Amino acid sequence: MPVSSGIVSHDRRSLIMPQEKWAEPRRVMHSLLSGTALQQYGEWQEIESTQMMAEYLLKPHLWYRHHYRYANSVIHRIAFGERLVKSTKELEDMQNCVTFFVGSIGSSVVDWFPELARLPKFLQLWRLYWKPLGDWNYNVYHSWWDPIRRQVEGGTAKPSFVRDVLLSPETKYTGNDEDAMYVALQLIEAGSDTTREALNIMVMAALEYPDVFRKARAHVDRVCGTGPDARLPRLRDMDQLGYICAMAKEILRWRPIFVVTPDHTATKDFEFEGYHFPEGTGFVINEVPVGAECERPDDFDPDRWMDGHETDITHGLWQFGGGRRICVGYRLAQRSLFINIARL
Ligand code: HEM
Repeated sequence: MPVSSGIVSHDRRSLIMPQEKWAEPRRVMHSLLSGTALQQYGEWQEIESTQMMAEYLLKPHLWYRHHYRYANSVIHRIAFGERLVKSTKELEDMQNCVTFFVGSIGSSVVDWFPELARLPKFLQLWRLYWKPLGDWNYNVYHSWWDPIRRQVEGGTAKPSFVRDVLLSPETKYTGNDEDAMYVALQLIEAGSDTTREALNIMVMAALEYPDVFRKARAHVDRVCGTGPDARLPRLRDMDQLGYICAMAKEILRWRPIFVVTPDHTATKDFEFEGYHFPEGTGFVINEVPVGAECERPDDFDPDRWMDGHETDITHGLWQFGGGRRICVGYRLAQRSLFINIARL
């Protein structure tokens, strides 16, 4: 994708990198799926979620902003090791990076016919539009990256993914400073926007299907109590609150965040249902019809997921993609959705 990957992402967003370049950033990101990391990050998810509950009480009309702050703050802390202290303008810039990047995917004819990028540069008129966007994005990333990199170099950084994994000599990450910057900031943008959207969809479902939420509340009350002895749900309640886990899956099925997933490419020729697919064919998951392959697909009904696999968010659900490139944050995302659905 010469536009969305090349110009807009300076060839450094792993999400849409070709296989050869993708392996190294993925190797360093993989720790995000490990049990030890999840336990540490879980504490931060619970603290930030508690703050979100307070924000809901104090400023209920800004509910959607609380979702974004929560999501951004959690992943900021995981990536950079500190709580988020950014101005509204800085947050807006970060959100715009995602919006422009996602909007660039497939919107230029050049990404569908990449051979066009072989034309001499002076004929590539699309660069006039996309290059300033890519450079603006690069500068926003730098304004978030430079302070944390200086802290790591100066030995004052707190424990974090950047300090202990990405820039740790033990990891032997082979990318340069720019590559590392894109790994870290891609995490922040990928982790914030998706979680925020899923929580927004939850609110939409709550308005449309109050009975489902009454039922959810009964489940939570049974585990966490009612009256003066009631306590907030915790991540460790997940196994006992299968219905809440099922709600997270239903949110993503009912109104998918990813309408199509990024292309995966066939590495060799193969036959499927009488069709021949040559090596190099690009495949996407067409999420809306895939999610509608069930009974009464328009209904928001978490019970459809109560099949013994409800605590496994990728079982039967394709919203996180699949295979080797499956979303590296899916376990974090599941826990964020669980804790906030249960508490709200
Ligand atoms: C509801 C929430 C989320 C959804 C629906 C989602 C969905 C996806 C999808 C569809 C992909 C592409 C997978 C593929 O190509 O097959 C992806 C990749 C990715 N996601 Fe997520 N995601 C979510 C949350 C998160 C979170 C919380 C993080 C932060 C840790 C994250 C970080 C990433 C990264 C870094 C990639 C690129 C992985 C790679 O290049 O190998 N995502 N996500």
